[in-house]
Amino acid sequence: MPNWEEIFKEKGYLFVDPHHDMSRLASLFRSNGVRRILDLGCGTGRHLAFLSRAGFEVSGFDSSKTALDLAKKWLKEEELSADIHLGRMEEQFPFSSDCFDAVISIQVIHHNLMQDILLTVNEIERVLKIGGYIFITVPILGPKPENPEDDWKLHQVEDGTFIPQSGPESGIPHHYFTEDELHEVFKKFKILEMYMDDTNHRCVLAVKEF
Ligand SMILES: C[S@@+](CC[C@H](N)C(=O)[O-])C[C@H]1O[C@@H](n2cnc3c(N)ncnc32)[C@H](O)[C@@H]1O
Repeated sequence: MPNWEEIFKEKGYLFVDPHHDMSRLASLFRSNGVRRILDLGCGTGRHLAFLSRAGFEVSGFDSSKTALDLAKKWLKEEELSADIHLGRMEEQFPFSSDCFDAVISIQVIHHNLMQDILLTVNEIERVLKIGGYIFITVPILGPKPENPEDDWKLHQVEDGTFIPQSGPESGIPHHYFTEDELHEVFKKFKILEMYMDDTNHRCVLAVKEF
């Protein structure tokens, strides 16, 4: 069964172009005094490179050493910089409290059981300043595909959480959030926007209120 480390070892730079809304977010961040940004689950660094190039001070955090090595290589080639850490998002993040102006996390936090997702959300809250931004994207549960080869054979392990038994991400937990759950999980935040992006992921843009 693959895990993200094996996926990156096999596929290398799997994601290259930044999320479609990253330019808009960079403008919003800039006009609201954001300086320091954490990319939680940064993978091979597409957003580290984009945001560093845009002049922000960026930190990246991911559990895949291979992905982080690829991110460092990318940044070096472009003479960009980022503070990069290996670690697991369900454990304490290697950052002090209230040190980031924004945390982004693109297609990451759903890769756990709910009790671990709640630990991750607590850590996001801890490292983010009051008034800081989050931009989080998560997949939604679509209809069962018509072509059997595209069927991930999702095995439900708890309410809303499935482990695919087939496909490129087999063995990796996927929690499919409902809109209500996102409101509940991020209840310490004022939700500014919640919408579907062009890759069928639900996006949450919010500000930490207390
Ligand atoms: C779909 S990829 C997205 C990568 C990156 N955010 C991007 O948009 O290019 C999911 C990422 O989450 C990371 N990840 C999965 N489980 C993790 C965990 N428990 N702790 C930290 N990172 C994790 C993977 O290593 C992978 O880089």
